Amino acid sequence: MDSDSSLDVVNSALYRYKKTNFLFKDPMRPKDLDALLDLELRPTDVFVVTYPKSGTVWMQQILVQIMDAAHPEQAEDLINRNRVPWVEDRLFDEPFRDRPDPRYFGSHLPVDMLPRDVKNKNLKVVYVWRNPRDVLVSLYHFSEAWVFLESPKSFEDFFQDFLNGDVYMGSWFDHVRGYQAERDRLQIHFMKFEDMLKDLRGEVEKLCLFLGHSLTEEQMDRVVETSTFNNMKVNPKANYKDLVEKERYSKNTMRKGVAGDWKNHFTVAQNERFDQVFKEKMRDVSLSCSWE
Ligand code: A3P
Repeated sequence: MDSDSSLDVVNSALYRYKKTNFLFKDPMRPKDLDALLDLELRPTDVFVVTYPKSGTVWMQQILVQIMDAAHPEQAEDLINRNRVPWVEDRLFDEPFRDRPDPRYFGSHLPVDMLPRDVKNKNLKVVYVWRNPRDVLVSLYHFSEAWVFLESPKSFEDFFQDFLNGDVYMGSWFDHVRGYQAERDRLQIHFMKFEDMLKDLRGEVEKLCLFLGHSLTEEQMDRVVETSTFNNMKVNPKANYKDLVEKERYSKNTMRKGVAGDWKNHFTVAQNERFDQVFKEKMRDVSLSCSWE
């Protein structure tokens, strides 16, 4: 393991590697992140990629429900995090390698740090993204609640760190730009958090088309019903309650689950600053960046 003194320190909780910020508390170090590039994958593996706080846990729930749709009575008795494991957490973990096809993985990694097999074997990638203003707010609250991160000194401080990319997993702008730039070289399906809020069923139908799953109306009803915010909030397989119990989180991570909470946090001046940075960083991005 690299000695921690050789790492590029962002703050007491984070070190930077290849422009992305990782947790000191995670066992992953640069050499492990490099080794992940060579992780051998199966052509049937599917990746769900997100910048943090963009709907990862929501997608884990949806995918688990899709996997179990045909035989809910035989659903594996595992929490969602172990059915759709984080690839960057699991290099050290043998059991996930033996999971049956199709294996689903979650990841926050930027596109250039994903295992090479994702591109070489043309794996399916689902990229969920969200209004970055709401991502900022969600990550701010999450940073207060997750013991692995530094608690923000103030909202303004955190706001500036987010714009600078000095937060967990680095710059939102770089993350989204990276995946958008590779969209023709990846088999990738983009999903917007806000579209899922507006029409979950419609978005799950498009997802099933992309994944090649065909569900009956009844199965689709069940997937949608079990994946609403209120139902996930009380489902211990979905809501990461085990981590609250282990005192890793001080709050339920199912916080509000809405669009537009940034309006309750940003000042007018912060909003103007955000817009300016957004326009500059996203000017050549062809994805539709409208969230209202
Ligand atoms: P808020 O903090 O704004 O409430 P991630 O899973 O990537 O960490 O994202 C967490 C965010 O997704 C949180 O946002 C959480 O409440 C929201 N979320 C999770 N499941 C949801 C659902 N079924 N419907 C709406 N929002 C959901």
